[in-house]
Parts: sequence; C-alpha cells; structure tokens
Amino acid sequence: MDCIKFIVYGILFSALSFVGKTTSPASLGLIGDSADVTRPTSGGTVLVGGGRDVDAAMQWMIKKSGGGDFVIIRATGTDAYNSYIYNLGSVNSVETLLINSRTLANDPQVEATIRRAEAVFIAGGDQANYVNYWKDTRVEDALNYLRNMKQVPIGGTSAGCAILGRTYFSAINGTVTSSEALANPYNRYVTLGYDDFLSQPYLSNVITDTHFNNPDRRGRLITFLARMNKDYGVIGRGIGIDESTALCIEFDGTSKVFGSGIVFFLSQNGLNNQPEKCVSGSSLDWYRNRQAITIYKIAGNESGSESFDLKTWSPISGDDVYQYYYVNRGTLGIFFDDKK
Ligand SMILES: *[C@@H]1O[C@H](CO)[C@@H](O)[C@H](O)[C@H]1NC(C)=O
Ligand SMILES: *[C@@H]1O[C@H](CO)[C@@H](O)[C@H](O)[C@H]1NC(C)=O
Repeated sequence: MDCIKFIVYGILFSALSFVGKTTSPASLGLIGDSADVTRPTSGGTVLVGGGRDVDAAMQWMIKKSGGGDFVIIRATGTDAYNSYIYNLGSVNSVETLLINSRTLANDPQVEATIRRAEAVFIAGGDQANYVNYWKDTRVEDALNYLRNMKQVPIGGTSAGCAILGRTYFSAINGTVTSSEALANPYNRYVTLGYDDFLSQPYLSNVITDTHFNNPDRRGRLITFLARMNKDYGVIGRGIGIDESTALCIEFDGTSKVFGSGIVFFLSQNGLNNQPEKCVSGSSLDWYRNRQAITIYKIAGNESGSESFDLKTWSPISGDDVYQYYYVNRGTLGIFFDDKK
C-alpha cells in the first residue's frame, strides 16, 4: 500500500517538477501551471511584521491576484513559500525567485517573470541585500510597474516590509538599536533611503518597521521620523507592525489589520512640532509638551475587522485614545492625555 502511494507520489512529483522548469535563471522552482495566465487584478499593499506568516493576509493577496501567478522574491533562503501559498487558495502558480546579485536583478527574464505576476511577496531576510542588489535595477522597475500601472497586490514581511515605504531604513551599515539611535540620530547605523527605490500608494510619506512587539523598535522608529522631518522636510510618519500581524492596504487607502498583534500608526503631531534637537553627535530631543508624536494602535484579528484610513491618517474603527510619544534628551516617554 505504502509502496503504491510512494510510486503515485513519485509520478506526481516528477510531473510537477517537469512543469516547474522555467526559463528564469533566478527560479528556485514553481508549483502549478508554468504557462503565463492573465487575470483581472486589483492593487493593494501588505505590510507584515515578521514572525509567523498571516494566512488571512496571503488570502487577501490571492483574492486581489484574481488567482493568477504568485511570485515570491528574496535574496537568501528557500522555496518554502511555494507550497504554503499554493495550499492557501486558488492560484495558477507560485514561483520563488532568488535574486542575489545585480546581474540577476538586471536579467530580462527575471524582469519578465515579475512583470507577468498577478501578486508579488517579498520574503524576510536582510533589507541591505534588497537595497544593494535590487535598487536601480529592472527588478525595481518591475515592482513599481506592478503596483502603480498593472495594479497588482504587493506584500512583504520583515526586511521585505522595511523597503516598501518611500522613506526606508536601508540597514546598509547594519542594524541599529533604539538606544544607539536616540543617543545620536546621525549615528552611522541610522541609514535612511528616500524617494529612490520602491513606490507604493499611501506610503509616500511613511517609513515602516516590523517586529514591533519588541519595545526596542520604538525609539529607533521615532528617530527615523525625526530624521524624515529634518532631512526631507515632510511630516515624519511611521507604521510599526507586530510579529504575526499584517496591515492590508486597499486601493482607496483604507486598511485592515489581520493577525494576532497590533499595528502602531505614529505621526509627528503637525509640521510645526519639529524635533527641538536633531543633530549629529547629540541625543535626540523631541518633547513638544509631551505631545511630539501621536499614536494610534489598531489590533488585528482573524477577520480584519479593525481599520485605519491612510488617506486621512485616522482610525475608522478601533483604538483612538490620545496617547503620545516624546523624547526627552534621548529618553523615550509616553503621555496619556486624560482630558480628551
Ligand atoms: C556607513 O558607515 C561608513 C563608515 O563608517 C560611513 O562613512 C557612512 O557615512 C555610513 N553611511 C551612512 C549613510 O551613514
Ligand atoms: C474581531 O474583532 C472585532 C472587534 O473587536 C470583533 O467584533 C470580532 O468578533 C472579532 N472577530 C474575530 C474573528 O475574532
């Protein structure tokens, strides 16, 4: 019995691997139909906070993909997403591309595979690889084409999420802790990129950070906001996402939170409330009467019933409790305004 099963599986597996041969030199393999299909899609962006994948967010992407071809891109790791996504819903194919050089990122066949996709998900890893290998290449062009012209869903988790904002922490000098960032916002590890890589609607003045259930992520994200304001003259805004949690942004800028954690929406409290001191070699000072940065926290669950509007930067449902972060000479504080 087992022997027959084994033979049947063997035949099925060989059939799959035969179908799975593609022309893309970066392919780690494909599950499903290797012929390209065209399906009606709708645009969207998914920010995942790392840790366990959020099934509901992947299913949201599958729906928006119209059941077309789902492509995973990464610079390290395996094809483990192929079977995971293939088993979550109905898609024509799932293929993983390992793009770990600028040569591959400029390969016309790699570019064509991405442009033909109806959904793309960027795996976790180290975002410095994505910046070093993909920025100013055909991969960058293809991703921007997909989200802004073809209108397909794009998502990313952890490092894959970190590069989706127009301002992003590139980590090209390695990671940075909150205490390092708050002690010197121009520390050589606080490496930001701005308006030179990926372009997602509603994230044009936003920086993202993940693993946000770790309290050590807060001070550094607030330092990034201070730098956004100081260096680029925009209101510093950030989205911090807990592990096992996903923010799904619709074509109209409304968004839903799926998963078990919380999404934090942090914003400089108006353009006038700039950091009191954000200079090289000194600790950050961003006090503004303890109301420097407004905080909205939106909790996720299975049905994604809590939502936030990125167009107006306000909750549609969920938490609205008047909390603020401030930084007093390099020390992060939180203020609850009872009077509101
Ligand atoms: C990265 O580190 C190098 C060496 O210390 C430094 O020269 C460079 O300015 C740093 N990059 C940024 C963006 O701070
Ligand atoms: C999600 O949260 C909302 C609001 O708290 C609640 O009404 C809903 O029942 C929850 N759904 C699930 C599946 O937990």
